Amino acid sequence: MHDLILRAADDLIRSKYAIALTGAGISTESGIPDFRGPSGIWTKDPEAEKRAYQSYEKFRRNPKAYWEERLTAPALLGDLRKVIPNPGHHALAELERIGILKWVITQNVDNLHQRGGSQKVLDYHGNAFKLRCIACESRYDPDVFDLERLRIEDQLPPRCKKCGGVIKSDVVHFNEPIPPDIAEQSLEEATRCDLMLICGTSAVVFPFANLPRVAKRRQLENGEGIILIEINAEPTPLTEQKISNYFIRGKTGQILPQIVEEVNRKRSPK
Ligand code: APR
Repeated sequence: MHDLILRAADDLIRSKYAIALTGAGISTESGIPDFRGPSGIWTKDPEAEKRAYQSYEKFRRNPKAYWEERLTAPALLGDLRKVIPNPGHHALAELERIGILKWVITQNVDNLHQRGGSQKVLDYHGNAFKLRCIACESRYDPDVFDLERLRIEDQLPPRCKKCGGVIKSDVVHFNEPIPPDIAEQSLEEATRCDLMLICGTSAVVFPFANLPRVAKRRQLENGEGIILIEINAEPTPLTEQKISNYFIRGKTGQILPQIVEEVNRKRSPK
């Protein structure tokens, strides 16, 4: 394992444009359950996953009912205001600070990369602390709307201040299109990077799971020296299909700080 950590540190130092892709696995050490791991939400409650596949259709059919449920029912991931970033989040922020990591593209809606100090984050599946207009894609801080008053005065759903469109959570539900600005830029970054760190994801949800394949294709077709490094508690289709160049098994909150420590040690003047 230590050899792989040294190798990852070397590859990061040599990289010119490294990006990181993350999933629920990077936030489990912050106390947020993942979905498909051994004690994942879907693993333990397959019915909950089936219900999640209905959320977007429910919103489209009846945005008022969607909001009433959203404002009264317990949140699937618990109270995200009460969790804090862990060493895995901080390690990626450190890699950005020292100029090696250019972007974090995350499937997580928990805002923990930003709270961990990462400035350049693309929330691929949205952000639980934001709202979005489904007509003009404008995003809002929830405090802009007095949601509780709207509920009491039977004025739900909230309406966009710019175009009057219906507002929903910024969180992207199954079957909902990825917001175009985020989808485009994420594809661009996967097309531009020379190193992709893939952390804490089962890599089975598309279109996100396409991003490593975009980078891999560039490697194979153009012979570009792109390196894909996977860090996860268990192998994924990226490991099995040899899309990642190498796989480091373990917890992101333990492995990423070790890699950063090696990067700093190797870069520090002798
Ligand atoms: N360190 C490393 N890997 C971990 C850790 C950890 N501390 N904890 C869990 N894992 C691994 C799990 O073993 C699993 O392989 O992280 C992976 C998490 O995979 P999923 O639960 O499938 O999460 P993710 O890939 O982010 O899911 C994608 O699916 O349910 C939807 O919208 C949801 O964004 C989510 C998407």
